[in-house]
Amino acid sequence: MSTITIPVHTSSRAYDVLVGPGVLDQVGEVCARCAGGTVAAVISDSNVAPLYGQRVLSSLERAGYRTALLTFPAGEQNKRLSTLETLLEGLAAAELSRDDVVVALGGGVTGDMAGLAAALYLRGIQVVQVPTSLLAMVDSSVGGKTAVDLAHGKNLAGAFHQPSAVVVDIDCLKTLSHELFSDSCGEVIKHGVLADPALFAHLAKHPLNAPDVTSDELVSVVARNIEIKRNVVDADEKEHGLRQTLNLGHTLGHAIEASSNFTLGHGSSVAAGLCCIARGAAAKGWCSEDCARQIERATLAHGLPIDTSVGHETIFAFATHDKKRHGSTINVVIPHAIGSVSVRTITFDELAELIELGCNAHPSSEVSL
Ligand code: GLY
Repeated sequence: MSTITIPVHTSSRAYDVLVGPGVLDQVGEVCARCAGGTVAAVISDSNVAPLYGQRVLSSLERAGYRTALLTFPAGEQNKRLSTLETLLEGLAAAELSRDDVVVALGGGVTGDMAGLAAALYLRGIQVVQVPTSLLAMVDSSVGGKTAVDLAHGKNLAGAFHQPSAVVVDIDCLKTLSHELFSDSCGEVIKHGVLADPALFAHLAKHPLNAPDVTSDELVSVVARNIEIKRNVVDADEKEHGLRQTLNLGHTLGHAIEASSNFTLGHGSSVAAGLCCIARGAAAKGWCSEDCARQIERATLAHGLPIDTSVGHETIFAFATHDKKRHGSTINVVIPHAIGSVSVRTITFDELAELIELGCNAHPSSEVSL
C-alpha cells in the first residue's frame, strides 16, 4: 500500500499527516519542507531512541540539518516539569533558534512533553510529531495537545501547540509489545463508536490485535482513525464543544485507571469506561441495549476489559475530581448508537446513578493486561 496523506486544518495551523510503512526515512525531507530551519533536535525516550533515533538523525542530516538527540528516561512517571526543564536546557545547549525544529520521536509521553518543550522554548518553535506507538498514532500526535503531569493529576499543565507535520511509520508498531498494542485498541474502538459504524463493524469482526493483521490493514485502520480525529479537531481545536466527544469512555475510564494506580493501561481503562457508560446509558434509555452489547462484544474481541471491580463510590470520587467537572455538574459523553454520541451536562447525582447502573455489572469479565 502506498503512503496516505491526511490534511489537517485547525484554526491555528494547517499541516499534513503522512501514514505508511517506512516513512521514518522521510522525516528529514518532511521537516525541511514543512518546518524549515537549520537545526533539528530529536526528543525521544530511553526505549525508543536506541530503536529509531539514528535512522531519524540520518534522515535529518541527509536533508541538511545539524542535529541533536535529547533523551529522557521512559515512563509516565517522568512526564514531569523537572524532565521538561532538562529538555528545555538541552534545546538551549544545542543552540536552537526561533526557526529551528523539535522532532518528537516516540509514544504519547514523548509527544506530549516534546510538544510542550517546543511550545515553551523561545515562546514557541515548530515541532514535527513522529509517533511510534499505536496510541500516539491514532490519538495524541494529532490535534496539538501537549502537557506534563502534576502531583495532583495527569496532563494538568500544558498548551495547545499544533505540529508542523506528523509522520506515522506503521513499521514502528512491529517493535511495540502485544500488550501495549492491544491496550491502545481501546482508543481505536472508541473512534469507531464515536464516528464510524463501518470501522466499528470491521473491528468487531477482525480485531486489530489479531495475529494475521496485515500492514495494509494497519495503514488503512490507522489512517481512518486519524481522519476521525482530524474531523473533530478541525471543527473544534480548543475543545469548546465537539472535541469533548473524544473523551468518550474517559470520565469513568480515567477513574478506573487512577484507582488501579495506573497499573491498568490507558486504552484498557477507556475500553472498560466505554462499556460502563454504554450500559449506564442503556439502562437510562439514552442508548439501545443492542448498542451497549455491541460495544461489549467488540471490546471482548480485543481481549480488553468490559467492566471493573472498582467500587461505585471510588469511581464516583475519582470521576468528580476530573478536569471536565464544572461546579457540581460534569460533562459526560453518552453513546446513543454506533457512530452517534453527544456531550451531556449531568449533575453529580445523575453521574452516581450512571455509575451504579453501568459499573460492576459483570466485574468477573474484567481482563487485566
Ligand atoms: N485525546 C483527546 C484529544 O486530543 O482531545
